[in-house]
Amino acid sequence: MAEARARKGDEAVPVMNNGSVPDEVSANGRTMTLSTSEPHIRLDKVARTYRLKDGREIEALVPTDLSIGVGEFVSIVGPSGCGKSTLLRIVGGLVAPSDGQVVIGHADSTKPLCAMVFQEYSIFPWRTVRANVGLGLEAMGVRKKELHDRVSFWLDRVNLSAFEDVYPRNLSGGMKQRVALARALAMEPEILLMDEPFAALDPQLRTLMQEQLVRICEEERRTVLFVTHSLDEAITLSDRVVVMTARPGRVKVDLPIPLPRPRQADVGSDPAFHRLRTELWTQLREEVELAVQAAESDAVMRDG
Ligand SMILES: Nc1ncnc2c1ncn2[C@@H]1O[C@H](COP(=O)(O)OP(=O)(O)O)[C@@H](O)[C@H]1O
Ligand SMILES: [Mg+2]
Repeated sequence: MAEARARKGDEAVPVMNNGSVPDEVSANGRTMTLSTSEPHIRLDKVARTYRLKDGREIEALVPTDLSIGVGEFVSIVGPSGCGKSTLLRIVGGLVAPSDGQVVIGHADSTKPLCAMVFQEYSIFPWRTVRANVGLGLEAMGVRKKELHDRVSFWLDRVNLSAFEDVYPRNLSGGMKQRVALARALAMEPEILLMDEPFAALDPQLRTLMQEQLVRICEEERRTVLFVTHSLDEAITLSDRVVVMTARPGRVKVDLPIPLPRPRQADVGSDPAFHRLRTELWTQLREEVELAVQAAESDAVMRDG
C-alpha cells in the first residue's frame, strides 16, 4: 500500500493513503476497510504506552473506545499530556497502538484517507504559498492542470489568492495556518485530523479561522477529529465534544452538541451554548485539577 508517513521534523508531509486499497488492509495498528457503513472511525480498546530510553514506561492512553460517523465533526478536549495528540496520531497512522485496534472505513480508494494539520505552521519556507498548497496533490501524482485548478480553488476559499507567489517568511501566523489548512483540504481527504491548529493565533484571528472552518466543513462535509484546549472553539465547531481524563487518558464524557447548523458567528450567545459549556467545564475541571496535582507531586519527588 502506498502510504506516505510524516517523519519527525518533517511534519509538512501530508499523511495519506492514495494507493489502491483491497477490501481490508492493516497498517500500523489500523485496519482500513472499503465499507461505507458507519462508523467512519472506530477505536476499539485502543491503548498506548511509551517506553523511554531509561526503561520507564509512560501510559499515555488506557483502553479507549470511540466511534465517529461519516461526516461528523468531533472535538477532543482534556488536560495537557492526557494523550490527545497520541490518539490523533494513532488514527492518522503515525503512532501504532500498543493494544486494541482502529478500524477506518475508506469509501473511495482513489482519494487520500487522512490529512493532518498541526499547531506549528508545517509549511516549507522555500516554497511559495501556491507550491505549499499543492504539495499534497503533487505527492498524490495529480496532473499539472488539475493540480493548478484545485490549488486555485482552495487558495480562493482561504482568501490567499492574492498571495500565491509569496514565500512564508512574508506571511502572518494566520496566513501560514490557512496555507496548511488549504493544503490539507485540497487533497480532499475523507478524514481531517487537526491538532490544536489555531492555538498559536491571537483571539480575533482565531475566531475568523473558526468561522472559515465552520463554513468549509458545512459545505464540504468531511469527517473531522479536532483537538483543542478551548471549550468555546470545540462547542462552536463540533457535533460532539469528547472530554478525556487526566493521564492515563481515556474518554470520560462524549457530549452531543445539538446547536443548529449553519452556525453563525453569534452562536456563543445562545443560552444552550452556555449550558453545554458549563457541563463540559465541570467535567474538564476535575481532570485539569488531577493533572495539576500529578504534575506537582512529580516535581516534589524530582526536587526532593
Ligand atoms: N514519543 C513519545 N515518547 C515518550 N513519551 C511520549 C511521547 N509522546 C507523548 N508522550 C507522553 O505521553 C503522554 C501523552 O502525550 P500527548 O499525547 O502528547 O498528550 P496531549 O496531546 O494530550 O498533551 C505525555 O505524558 C507525553 O509526555
Ligand atoms: Mg498535544
